[in-house]
Amino acid sequence: MPLSEFAQVSRRMAGDEETAAANRSWWDAEAGEYYAEHGAFLGDADFVWGPEGWRESELGLLGEVSGRRVLEIGAGAGQCARWLAGQGAVVVASDLSIGMLRTGVNLNQRVSDPRLAVPLVQCDALELPFADATFDAVFTSYGAVPFVSDSDGLVREAARVLRPGGRLVFSTTHPFRWAFPDDPGPGGLTVTQSYFDRTPYVEADSDGEATYVEHHRTLGDRVRDIAAAGLVLADLVEPEWPERNEETWGGWSPLRGRLVPGTAIFVCTKP
Ligand SMILES: C[S@@+](CC[C@H](N)C(=O)[O-])C[C@H]1O[C@@H](n2cnc3c(N)ncnc32)[C@H](O)[C@@H]1O
Repeated sequence: MPLSEFAQVSRRMAGDEETAAANRSWWDAEAGEYYAEHGAFLGDADFVWGPEGWRESELGLLGEVSGRRVLEIGAGAGQCARWLAGQGAVVVASDLSIGMLRTGVNLNQRVSDPRLAVPLVQCDALELPFADATFDAVFTSYGAVPFVSDSDGLVREAARVLRPGGRLVFSTTHPFRWAFPDDPGPGGLTVTQSYFDRTPYVEADSDGEATYVEHHRTLGDRVRDIAAAGLVLADLVEPEWPERNEETWGGWSPLRGRLVPGTAIFVCTKP
């Protein structure tokens, strides 16, 4: 959860439209800063699953990708998609925010190998502009999932564009984190609110207009979204903090990462 200097923070309801409008303009405005802060960690054509720093080259959660059609949702600047293109996947990177995609255009122009310049599509993960059963795999690393109120709709939409036998893999903040303050230090180790409270986290401007919204779901909610979309949960990866990583990313830090999970990666298949 970011916190701009003048934001009013509250827990209150925020529906689909308010959430999408707030998050689209927040990510448009923050795209440059996000890349300046995290670009080196992410790499321009690399695939990192979260602040722990585990890569797809180590975890292999998407399986064999060469020659496969893969869609990234909430792709940001499309770093993961670029890495997959390097592995021979036929990949499309999509995101709600034109600001994030603009960074993707710059990275496409900067990569030394033109085969890594991936197609970029602006769309909401809730309304993908693709036909049913188009892709062998759909994934996101920390994109879209906590930024929509209709979380079951997001999983349903991803399942729709997957072919039978395809895979949906998404990483997101571990639901357990919701109960703790977003503090990388010792203050982030004490429960301060209910894990069961799904009321969204909302930052608003002085007129009360939402400028950033995050939606929480429990682990059970996520499992039910997956089952309701007709998918099978094949694995739930809770990556441990590796010794090699001394970097802090927002509320994620070596201190907390060695004690409690920071990321949950859901690996789902479509029968
Ligand atoms: C934390 S960033 C992650 C970006 C990228 N995956 C990465 O690892 O850098 C979250 C991304 O989700 C995107 N996003 C938010 N809501 C979305 C939605 N409804 N549909 C698609 N993308 C969305 C944002 O624009 C942003 O690029």
